Amino acid sequence: MSKLHLGMLGSGAGSNMQSIVDAIAAGTLDAEIKIVLADVPDAKILDRARKHNIPCEYLDCAPWKTKLEGVAEDKCIEILKAHGVDTVVLAGFMRIVKPKLLAAFPNRVLNIHPAILPAFPGVHSWTQALDYGCKVAGVTVHFVDAGTDSGPILVQKTVPVLEDDTPETLHARIQVQEHIAFPEALNILAKGNYRLEGRRVRIG
Ligand code: GAR
Repeated sequence: MSKLHLGMLGSGAGSNMQSIVDAIAAGTLDAEIKIVLADVPDAKILDRARKHNIPCEYLDCAPWKTKLEGVAEDKCIEILKAHGVDTVVLAGFMRIVKPKLLAAFPNRVLNIHPAILPAFPGVHSWTQALDYGCKVAGVTVHFVDAGTDSGPILVQKTVPVLEDDTPETLHARIQVQEHIAFPEALNILAKGNYRLEGRRVRIG
C-alpha cells in the first residue's frame, strides 16, 4: 500500500477529477491530487480544482493542437516533478502524450477512454459506438503506452445502448461508470496488488 501522489491533466469539465476528489474525501482512495494542469485556459476542471484548493495551472501546448510535445512537454514534466507527482492521470485530456513524458513516469500514466477498447479509440467514441449499432458500450481505464488508447487495460465497465439513445444520453450513461472505474483503477495502483505480464494486468 502506498499513497498516490497524483498529477492530473485535463481539457474539459473535470467530472472524472471530481470523482477522484470525492473518493479521496470518502476515504475509499488513498491519494492526494498534487497538481491539475489543463491545456484549455477556461476549462472547468481548473475551476473545480480551485474550489477544492488544489494547485492548478493552464499549460500552453502551442504550437501543437493534438499532442503534448516539445517545450510544453518539458514544462509539464518539470511541473509534475516539482509537485512530487508519482502517478499521472489523464482525466479527459484530449491530446496524445509522447514517449518523453511516459519515460518520466514509467508505467504510471493512466488514461480513461469512453469505449470498450480496443473498439473505438480516438474521439467521440460513444458516437462511434452508436453509429456502429453496438448494443453495449462502456469505459476503459488503461496504462498509457506510445500508441493511441492502446495500453494495458486495468478496468472496464459496460453500459447498455438503448433504442432511443442519442450521443448525449449514451455518453451520460458511460460517464456514470467512468466515475466508478477511475477511482477503482487508482485503488489497484495504491494497493499495489497487480503485476504487468505483457499486455495483461494481473490483479490480486
Ligand atoms: C470523458 O468522457 C473521458 O472518458 C473522455 O473525455 C471526457 C472527459 O470528461 N476522454 C477521452 O475521450 C479521451 N480520449 P470530464 O472532463 O468530465 O472528466
